[in-house]
Amino acid sequence: MSDPSPSDPSTPAQRLAQLRAAVPTLQLRTDAEDLAWYGVDWTRRWTPAPLAVALPGDVDEVQAVMRWAHANRVAVVPSGGRTGLSGGAVAANGELVLSLQRMNKVLAFDPVDRLLTVQPGIVLEAVHAAAREHGLAYPVDFAARGSCSIGGNIATNAGGIRVLRYGNTREWIAGLKLVTGTGELLDLGRGLVKNSSGYDLRHLAIASEGTLGVIVEATLKLTDPPPDTQVMLLALPSFEVLMQVFTTLRERLQLEAFEFFTDRALHHVVAHGAQPPFDAVHPYYVIAEFASGSEAQEVQVLSAFEYCTEQGWVEDGVISQGGAQAAQLWRLREGITESIAACVPYKNDVSVRISAMPAFLAETQALLAREYPHFEVVWFGHIGDGNLHINVLKPADMDNAAFVADCERVTTLLASTLQTHGGSISAEHGIGLVKKKYLASTRSPAEIAAMRGIKTVFDPAGILNPGKLFDA
Ligand code: MLT
Ligand code: ZN
Repeated sequence: MSDPSPSDPSTPAQRLAQLRAAVPTLQLRTDAEDLAWYGVDWTRRWTPAPLAVALPGDVDEVQAVMRWAHANRVAVVPSGGRTGLSGGAVAANGELVLSLQRMNKVLAFDPVDRLLTVQPGIVLEAVHAAAREHGLAYPVDFAARGSCSIGGNIATNAGGIRVLRYGNTREWIAGLKLVTGTGELLDLGRGLVKNSSGYDLRHLAIASEGTLGVIVEATLKLTDPPPDTQVMLLALPSFEVLMQVFTTLRERLQLEAFEFFTDRALHHVVAHGAQPPFDAVHPYYVIAEFASGSEAQEVQVLSAFEYCTEQGWVEDGVISQGGAQAAQLWRLREGITESIAACVPYKNDVSVRISAMPAFLAETQALLAREYPHFEVVWFGHIGDGNLHINVLKPADMDNAAFVADCERVTTLLASTLQTHGGSISAEHGIGLVKKKYLASTRSPAEIAAMRGIKTVFDPAGILNPGKLFDA
């Protein structure tokens, strides 16, 4: 991975002519509409300004693009479904967007190893369907399943609504092919269950946010299909009670998911068209999904529900009877992001150990009540994983830059609270552009120095997603 001398500066048009000559078969788009579409993710905070959008059709083309980019010092932004929430796929500085969207096929299934090999541009929902076709499941799941790509999921180690039971994306990656910043192809992991042969570079690539390489193929572990389930929605008076309900249900049931949201979150989802679940408004709601097929399990479910009610914890509650009702209840949680999107939320995605959650939450609630008396704050998240999403909504009449500046001031305070509790500034959305100034609240200077050193090995010219995660 040697570092060439920089080439002479050239105009964008000359660079593209060079790229066309270097990779004649490459699909390239330069229309203003395409540049605007491919240059942003769901943050929509930066003005897109890519050099062009390259849509390679195979690994050879990705390698050829990276060799050219390395030789000519052209910044490259690897791009999946761009559903990210941290600016990781934004191209606002003349970068070449490298969209993997055309590389979206299932390549192989191995029934003995229970492995599915896919191209990076395949959407998560298609991975679910492919696993189902083989009588198995790929269990990582979240609301963006219809548009996010597996490459992006891997690049951010995406979490979602079933981490409590199945873990993050990282747990499901048996192999990865990665094209580095010099255009070399690395074949990592290769589906081996056991492999004690030194550094596992596959795990460096996972959550690297496109800064170490371009994921061009992934081999995914599959598992048994999930059990039959039911969904319970409970209205609760306080966060303390919510944690008690979590402990109780985790002990008594086989939980598949345990999520929470507040009255403000419900307000927005209902305003967006969802059915209100109860007549009255309550401070907190939990949605729990659990195995429930057998008679014995159904008895356990009822007894757990009754126990929570007898403790005086439950203000109202419902247990789904059938898939349609379960889907309706899930919509209340999964519809939150879309329902508040028009309010341009400033998103915090923080985590602490579950045991630290009550103390962290009490401090954070006090902090936000003090610092944000003028903003609406919508809380929801993956409470069973210690992961809170704190969404601050922009008042309609406020300038976006002033809003972000105020939110960043408070995020600095939040980051220091997190540090006290040993938490993370990004549980699952990634650092990208949005959180990089807070990275040091979660990672020590020595860790960040090691991360920079690793980046230099994979990408000596510093062309892969520059400015994301940390500055050079
Ligand atoms: C979620 O949990 O719904 C996702 O992380 C998206 C979000 O935080 O808006
Ligand atoms: Zn989430």
